[in-house]
Amino acid sequence: MSQEKFYITTPIYYVNDRPHIGHAYTTILADVLARCHRSTGCDTFFLTGTDEHGQKVEKAAAKRGMTPLEHCDETVVRFQELWKKLGITNDRFIRTTQEFHVRVVQEILQELYDRGEIYRAEYTGWYCVGDERFFTEKDLVDGKCPECGREVTAIQESNYFFRMGKYRDWLVDYIQTHPDFIQPAFRANETLGFLRQELGDLCISRPKSRLAWGIELPFDTDYVCYVWFDALINYISGVGYKTDDAAFRRWWPASCHLIGKDILTTHTVYWPTMLKAIGLPMPKTIFAHGWWLTGNTKMSKSLGNVVNPMDMIERAGVDAFRYFLLAEMSPGNDANFSEAAFLARYNTDLANDLGNLLSRVSKLTVRATGGRIPAPGAPTEAEAELNAEVDSAVAAMKRGIADMKLDQGIGAVLNAVRAGNRYLEKCAPWTLAKQGNTERLHTVLFTAAEALRRIAVLLAPVMPEKMARLGEVLGYACGTLGSIGDLDRPGDLAGRTMSETEPLFPRILVESAPDQPARPVKPAKAAQTVQVSNRPEPAELITISDFSRVQLRTARVLEAMPVPDSAKLLRLRIDAGGEERQLVAGVARHYTPQAITGKTIIIVANLKPARICGVESQGMLLAARVGDELRLLTIDGDLPPGAVVG
Ligand code: MSP
Repeated sequence: MSQEKFYITTPIYYVNDRPHIGHAYTTILADVLARCHRSTGCDTFFLTGTDEHGQKVEKAAAKRGMTPLEHCDETVVRFQELWKKLGITNDRFIRTTQEFHVRVVQEILQELYDRGEIYRAEYTGWYCVGDERFFTEKDLVDGKCPECGREVTAIQESNYFFRMGKYRDWLVDYIQTHPDFIQPAFRANETLGFLRQELGDLCISRPKSRLAWGIELPFDTDYVCYVWFDALINYISGVGYKTDDAAFRRWWPASCHLIGKDILTTHTVYWPTMLKAIGLPMPKTIFAHGWWLTGNTKMSKSLGNVVNPMDMIERAGVDAFRYFLLAEMSPGNDANFSEAAFLARYNTDLANDLGNLLSRVSKLTVRATGGRIPAPGAPTEAEAELNAEVDSAVAAMKRGIADMKLDQGIGAVLNAVRAGNRYLEKCAPWTLAKQGNTERLHTVLFTAAEALRRIAVLLAPVMPEKMARLGEVLGYACGTLGSIGDLDRPGDLAGRTMSETEPLFPRILVESAPDQPARPVKPAKAAQTVQVSNRPEPAELITISDFSRVQLRTARVLEAMPVPDSAKLLRLRIDAGGEERQLVAGVARHYTPQAITGKTIIIVANLKPARICGVESQGMLLAARVGDELRLLTIDGDLPPGAVVG
């Protein structure tokens, strides 16, 4: 985080594709990292763009009766418009058909050719049109492309080769001595595994007789350049290599190339050896993230399970979509996308937890002071507890940015949000107002608003529009909320004017499909309604920290008796581990008092006491039910009462 400059890139996307959730994820992740670095005062450059040469583009254009460039000019707009919609703050959008890029690629080719790094030879092998890659006989899997499983074509032709193989030992040593170079570490091992076999030279040309849509080789006009060799160079041409020396010196080497795991070899073998031959320093980190899957399978057009970002944006808005992608995926691993999980996280984290905290604080403040955020009085332990939770969210977010663990940073911020709601319940400012305890009331309102201010700063890179709105409610004009770099210093909140607000994240009512039981979703003001498709998906996903709020314990039933006037209820006296409690349980139709006495059961130990049929119940037991059948949850073996379950 304290780096002097931060240069981040995404892969350049095939211009032919329709942007989907995978493209959106990489670009949003890069955007959030760029915003985070800018927010800490770090000089930042963010590059994305499109990969526009190659056979697929040539074929698609021919089919539409257009020139390849006309086709690209039309399709590139899909990416540019989506990035605008998603609030992407790239500093440059590079297209590999731009003249400056073509010139840089040609100059590099000529120099490498002049230095003998590129040579001509006969080539025999196999070619995958889909991946635009060559394979040797031994690379093939069951005679098919090892990458995509499609048919390959036998090819024999004269071509140009880059002497990649001679850099193998150097590359192995570089990877081993630079642990940050390929991240996560298991991807470095994958590359080292690949490098255990002999590394061949790389075919970097295509005869125009087979493919004309590419950058012409400057030393042989019968050929164009292999699309990957051309595309990788965008990372240096995009920051001024051979066109703007000052810019290039300022930004290169890149801090982070973000890629998906499927393009690891091209980035961790081809690209470093190309840079070595050109004579340029290596990027600091190449980070390969996992894939978004649907229903735990790879997305593909033929399976019809490709998630279109626009559908999700329409349901819950851009910021919620950005939030979901970043909160849900732990960047090295795959993640599963489901609409139900998206809506459940929206309703839980954003509508219930964050949105609720904001509306409570704004309403209470407007009621208590007319909106003026009061200066706090002397803090108590409750304030210290909440402040500590927010401090640890700040630290976790900074670690998350530095170590590419944004999901963990976001998780810590949401814990702070929940701590804010618990703080309000504990301090009950509504009661303080009734009691006329103004000093304490002011302390509580200030502390909760200050927690919200810091939370908004931490989440602003992920949800820029919503957090700017939250800032406005706290009395900060758009763009003046401050940055992550300022969070260790005291803010200037007291004295600002807070306004009441519409729900920041209106709850979305999730209607079950007709043959599914209705989902328990509270009705709310200004709620939107969407229909969730009838897929076998979990109803509402919770995080591990949500789950850890529920304290499950073993308990022994000491005594049981019927509850008067109830056929369903038993009153149980239980040993909950060093303390006796009374539970009321709806199990009388399934267990007699004798049958249940002496059993070790599982209880929710931190449930608020409630009166059921006039009898107090201090907790709840767990049971499983199918139709009319009900069975208690017990434990497998013998453990004393009070043992933690989880
Ligand atoms: N044009 C090349 C990259 C050249 S970079 C010098 C390319 N383009 S792509 O459009 O096919 O893919 C771009 C990125 O999208 C890759 O990083 C790929 O991993 C990512 N994704 C494609 N499908 C994905 C998911 N389902 N999930 C996450 N990312 C995935 O490859």
